[in-house]
Amino acid sequence: MIELNATWRDAVRPGRRIGHAIEAHATIGSTNERARELLGRGAEDGLVVVADEQTAGRGRMGRGWHSPAGRSLSASVVLRRSIDAAEAWRLSLAAALAAAAACDPVAPVTLKWPNDVVAPDGRKVGGILIETAVEGERLVGAVVGIGLNVDWERSAMPHDIRDRAVSLAELAATPVDRVALLARLLDALGDEVDLLDAGVIPLERYAARCATIGARVTVDDHGRRVEGLATGLDERGGLVVEALDGRHHFVSGEVSAVRGVAGP
Ligand code: BTN
Repeated sequence: MIELNATWRDAVRPGRRIGHAIEAHATIGSTNERARELLGRGAEDGLVVVADEQTAGRGRMGRGWHSPAGRSLSASVVLRRSIDAAEAWRLSLAAALAAAAACDPVAPVTLKWPNDVVAPDGRKVGGILIETAVEGERLVGAVVGIGLNVDWERSAMPHDIRDRAVSLAELAATPVDRVALLARLLDALGDEVDLLDAGVIPLERYAARCATIGARVTVDDHGRRVEGLATGLDERGGLVVEALDGRHHFVSGEVSAVRGVAGP
């Protein structure tokens, strides 16, 4: 049974694969957790879980994610695909492009590798957590979780993120409609997934939007730490960093310190 409160009704995308149905919650632990549960129970491709507030939101690298009531967009999309698990990185770049496209009409945003949405000064507007279901060498399903800070005043943010995060409304200097934002996000993700299904790899478009490329960075990946110049992406969407001791490739990691365009 899909429950849909009136708030999110206008975000439903009738006739489209992504967003044809939305399960909406006032409060939930994590929309990703719920979407994973639904994926495991046979939910159809393109089902969306959205919540006004998350009490146990999850971020990348095992971190938490703040989603205060009414201040953010927290949505998770169920995808059913059978693709080579080694190609899952394509989905990460495609989801980042979709999130940026959804924000474009309201605020100037760019991307920080691998899939953070950031302001031009590098403060974080949002992030993406993709969780996959893999059978052998195949990815058979995925949950694409997207969190965006929509209208969250700096003074209301926890102290530890206040200097590193910003919301779309602050960047736009005007209120931002979360329902319209979700609708644009679902349309953009639908377009990106259609391109992936058609075999179009988003490497070049992603690289063109990614502020990390061309910046001096520090990348941390489970204890491996490299400082250098991010020169581009490799053929698997990994970040290429030129350091004093040579060239490094990262398939995952946290760009935690960027001097120049890509932020803190
Ligand atoms: C990051 O660390 O940058 C990724 C954050 C992803 C947060 C979103 S909010 C909707 C979905 N549900 C979750 O628990 N996490 C993702």
